[in-house]
Amino acid sequence: MTQLTTVAPPEGFGATMRRDIWWLRPTLILAAFATFLIYGTICAFQEPLYTMKDAKGNPVLGPYVTPFESPNLIELGLAPAGVNLGPLLLTPALLVLWAPGGFRFTCYFCRLAYHRSVLGDPPGCAVGEWKRTYRGEKGFFWINNFHRYFLYVILIFVVFHWIHFLLAFYYKGHGLGIGVGTLVTGFDTIALTMYVGGCHSLRHLVGGRQNHFNQDSLTFKLWNFVSKINAHHGLWFWLSLGSVMLADMYMRLLAHGVIKDFNTWSSF
Ligand code: FES
Repeated sequence: MTQLTTVAPPEGFGATMRRDIWWLRPTLILAAFATFLIYGTICAFQEPLYTMKDAKGNPVLGPYVTPFESPNLIELGLAPAGVNLGPLLLTPALLVLWAPGGFRFTCYFCRLAYHRSVLGDPPGCAVGEWKRTYRGEKGFFWINNFHRYFLYVILIFVVFHWIHFLLAFYYKGHGLGIGVGTLVTGFDTIALTMYVGGCHSLRHLVGGRQNHFNQDSLTFKLWNFVSKINAHHGLWFWLSLGSVMLADMYMRLLAHGVIKDFNTWSSF
């Protein structure tokens, strides 16, 4: 019979007996988080894109909406326009970014990512961590208990994304059509839907309280569907994070006249 012996790993942050490039993954994730955070913060304080008009008075984005301004509480009449925060304008992005921010921060997949990449707690399997005591969902991380509530809010965001995607086929005064912006919006909407659709809390919501499933029931079919998407939750997390940023970047470049949108309307 084979005898297994265990070897105590070396101690200290980053100390390990691993020979692979274990540090690459946490480093790339840290870079991705930093990029998104810096980009999002800068854009949230910029002039809102929905108010920008071209020389003829048409909206510079045509039928498109940036995901950073969806839903737009000011346009919906749920928040006042023109409010200043010191020298800065209270933008639609500032009003809503707490919801996707909170949803992602408390996401079970994201917790793993930032505990490894940002907090180094630990940075990888069998790799030494900072000398700190893991306190689970206590202290500041108590907020992680609210993931299910962030989910309820974010489901409203998903509905708004679909509305904006469908409206991206119709340019007022020019009729039905399609453009690169429509496809960009579509990809972002699908990525967000798949990310939210595979949420662990949603999986619990649709079928987690059952002791037995009737295999013909709608509950079982829904739970099965969410479980299948849930298997790729990490992938959809990254795709949707990337698509939000790329979609906003595309709309921003378009609004500032840096690029042109190829579309069937030939009008912007
Ligand atoms: Fe990741 Fe809910 S667990 S979004």
